[in-house]
Amino acid sequence: IDPARIRNFSIIAHIDHGKSTLADRLLEVTGTVSKRDMKEQLLDDMDLERQRGITIKARAVSMRYTHHGTEYELNLIDTPGHVDFQYEVSRSLTCCEGALLLVDAFQGVEAQTVANAYNAIEHNLEIIPVLNKIDLVHARPEEVKEEIEQTLGLDAEDAIGCSAKTGLNCQAVIDAIIARVPAPTGKLDATLQAMVFDSVYDEFRGAIIYVRVMNGVVRKGDRVKFLQAGTAHEVVELGQLAPRRVPREHLSAGQVGYVVCNIKSLGQVHIGDTLSVAQGEPAAALPGYEQPKRMVFCGLYPSDGQDFENLREALSKLQVNDPSFVFEPETSDALGFGFRCGFLGLLHMEIVQQRLEGESDIDLVQTAPNVTYRIKVKDGDWIDVHTPQRVPANGDIEDFQQPIVRVSFVLPVDYIGGIMKLCADRRGVFVRQEYLSPTRAMLVYDLALAEVVYDMHDRLKSITRGYGTMDYELRGYETGDLVRLDILVKGERVDALSIVCDKRDSETRGRAVIKKLKEEIPRHMFEVPLQAAIGTRVVARETIKAMSKNVTAKCYGGDISRKRKLWEKQKEGKKRMKSIGQVDIPQKAFLAVLETG
Ligand code: GTP
Repeated sequence: IDPARIRNFSIIAHIDHGKSTLADRLLEVTGTVSKRDMKEQLLDDMDLERQRGITIKARAVSMRYTHHGTEYELNLIDTPGHVDFQYEVSRSLTCCEGALLLVDAFQGVEAQTVANAYNAIEHNLEIIPVLNKIDLVHARPEEVKEEIEQTLGLDAEDAIGCSAKTGLNCQAVIDAIIARVPAPTGKLDATLQAMVFDSVYDEFRGAIIYVRVMNGVVRKGDRVKFLQAGTAHEVVELGQLAPRRVPREHLSAGQVGYVVCNIKSLGQVHIGDTLSVAQGEPAAALPGYEQPKRMVFCGLYPSDGQDFENLREALSKLQVNDPSFVFEPETSDALGFGFRCGFLGLLHMEIVQQRLEGESDIDLVQTAPNVTYRIKVKDGDWIDVHTPQRVPANGDIEDFQQPIVRVSFVLPVDYIGGIMKLCADRRGVFVRQEYLSPTRAMLVYDLALAEVVYDMHDRLKSITRGYGTMDYELRGYETGDLVRLDILVKGERVDALSIVCDKRDSETRGRAVIKKLKEEIPRHMFEVPLQAAIGTRVVARETIKAMSKNVTAKCYGGDISRKRKLWEKQKEGKKRMKSIGQVDIPQKAFLAVLETG
């Protein structure tokens, strides 16, 4: 196919502005999928994604469309909308020449609208603003156009107003793609050069590799080479996604499609790699992608030690489809054998946990999430620490650094004061404030990631009554006034409960954790002292009083079956406990540190 008749584009949008719905409509208008088959939203095809309504993994779909007598190939490359998956957005954008900037005509410009649009501008894409949901009575397209011009400096004069729900004006969106998105510039007669932008695992075919051909042609049966991985393979199948896999004989410059090469695991596929010829001089390697950054870590432990191997198997299975999630074995005195897991962000963590619970029936204990710390040990090197219990004793640390993120909030102006206070409470550094319109503003702060990951999003939503949105990007590491705060139960340090916090917060945090623990840990036959300490200095303490009488006492004289029932119940309760020394600590208590963040 002549590259002049190809258009490659993405849809970028804030969550819930209607990306999946518009994608469906485009498939329908171009006749790629019939209305009857459209019951399910096709682009996000994982159950969980549908449940949560979030498109997580980038996917692609090819459409054919005849415009003024010429047939065009339109490739839509899907992008996730959530902050945790920004790096996947970049990945998709490098394969496109244009992007539809989809904005809800009622909600207006939101934090991820801005982040995604900047991303597209950086990639030099032609951006077509599209205002969705104009069927809504309260839609305010003119104001939203102004917001787009004000914040992004884009010309929104020709923005298309449409309704992805009713189909109104969706045809105009297709026409604009053909008219405004530049055709790819690749050469058909050059050496093969293709970008690997994604891969999925198929039980029968192994790795299915998604590519955008930049130059040349790749044919079924060709021997190809992955330049970064340095491996050569035969192409056993290739084709396009419409949206299901449709095998073809070849893919040429400008096209987007899939390649199957008998590669058994996704671990062998490097996203961002360049595909070229195995014989002769290969093409130049394309600039790769930034590696995904794991920002958040937590420990996952089976509550029954016997399940350790099952948990390992379940985690490996998950990783096959999601290489951005990492894990390694770790041990805790308190929790035994388990795994330290790394995620792109909090949402990613939640998704992985839900999948684990859905796909295996292992009872899990999860420790509070934490960020990566960089520590310079006295007379030693810098180390990266992913778990608070591995932080060296405070006296041995020369420099203690933490990740800092730049957070952008978009919110109605009435709530500016509330968010400023929240950021000040968390030692945020004000960067700037901008008005998108007389009623909406963008606030930018630099904050410690640790202050953001726990509950910033929830706090934002509650302060702004749901109207505020946020986005963040990593700025780098900075020295902080940080300490490791330990929790001692009956004199013993419970390693899984250690946290890292700002020194100035240590007393408040310590007191809050201990108060929570006091509620969660049942009474024993003896007193249980609880302490929070920095090194040997105790900053907070509480005591759980000893139990006054036997629980079975009230059954005295009662029938034995009632007594037995009570014991059974206690036993069940026990199962969900961990014994530290002589003290039974319920699993819920291990999350106590979370709720007091
Ligand atoms: P993520 O996958 O979470 O990024 O969301 P999305 O941007 O793909 O949004 P989605 O297409 O799932 O739409 C979000 C909600 O908006 C759904 O309830 C849609 O039915 C609704 N919606 C989408 N387009 C329109 C529209 O044109 N008009 C109206 N009234 N509702 C719409």
